[in-house]
Amino acid sequence: MVTNNSSAAIQPDYDRKADLAAFDETKAGVKGLVDAGITKVPRIFLVTPSPENFNSINEPKPCLPIIDMEGINEDQNLRKKVMEQVKDAFQSWGFFQIVNHGIPISLLEDAKKSVMEFFEQDTDLKKQWYTRDVSGKTRVVYNSNFDLYYAPVTSWRDTFYCVMAPNPPQSHELPPSCRDIWPKYSSQVMKLGCCLFELISEALGLDPNRLYDMGCAEGLSLLGHYYPSCPQPELTIGIPGHTDAVFITILLQDHVDGLQVFYENQWVDVPPIPGALVVNAGDLLQLITNDKFVSSQHKVVANKIGPRVSFASFFSTNVIPTMKVFEPIKELVSEDNPAKYRGTTVKEYTEYFREKGLYGTTPRLQHFKI
Ligand code: OGA
Ligand code: NI
Repeated sequence: MVTNNSSAAIQPDYDRKADLAAFDETKAGVKGLVDAGITKVPRIFLVTPSPENFNSINEPKPCLPIIDMEGINEDQNLRKKVMEQVKDAFQSWGFFQIVNHGIPISLLEDAKKSVMEFFEQDTDLKKQWYTRDVSGKTRVVYNSNFDLYYAPVTSWRDTFYCVMAPNPPQSHELPPSCRDIWPKYSSQVMKLGCCLFELISEALGLDPNRLYDMGCAEGLSLLGHYYPSCPQPELTIGIPGHTDAVFITILLQDHVDGLQVFYENQWVDVPPIPGALVVNAGDLLQLITNDKFVSSQHKVVANKIGPRVSFASFFSTNVIPTMKVFEPIKELVSEDNPAKYRGTTVKEYTEYFREKGLYGTTPRLQHFKI
């Protein structure tokens, strides 16, 4: 089943590489094009309009679950109820939203503001952070489309990336306007992530500390996305359909629509809810749960309304070398339900994922199937 718009890319009859290099050299990203006043989407961004890009009208859509976490540490009955909701949502959708998660709304607002401010700072200042070196030498990596030179279609989006754990950045390595907020926000997200890993462990019938002890919360990276308003949104895409190569993602989105999850053969909106966070299972969680929990495809459509910003927290050590091997948890496999995947390290998985292109139709997990 093809769920990725990029697969519908037009075969270029132009020197795509030259166009990409020229775009890259501006170091101003998609925002730079919009600032320059373009009224047509440049050809590197064009996807072939396909029916899947449009949602059928008049059809009732399923609703993504919203889970209220209020009081789960005080009331065991509430906790059990929430744990069941997490289980149901991760088994079917791989996605849910959470409210009353304990992170103050004011901190969420400041975090979103820091993303907006990063992208809307003076372009000459922002260019200092522009790089394609993802080896870890540069702490903050800002560019447009990590996979610019190998993705079939360029996405209508600029992004920055910063590793926050296990090796936290030093203050001077961060952009001045983000120095206070990113460490503060990540420590709250880490706390929330640990709480979610407890619930997920319990939902799997395991000791609450199990996923934490395995190292699922060892790594944390922040990704800030900026989706400029688009003059011809139906011709391009914000992020093509993809899964996340992590254990879980906690996503903070602003009030602008665009995020969709693939569920029961259709794209379903993940509606912005003030104060809520979106949680989704990544490929590594699907692997260690032996497919009990699913890492679902999701995408962001381009929009006339904009800019839209989002701030994703990825629980993964990415390419940091660690020796830990992750494989289907032994309590979750049996003679009747044998392990579907071989063991792998987070580094090996992430590198394979990057090699295949960050976003693509090939199910990356397939490669690790026994
Ligand atoms: C991602 C992602 C969604 C968004 O960063 O992997 O899916 O709303 N982001 O920006
Ligand atoms: Ni994603």
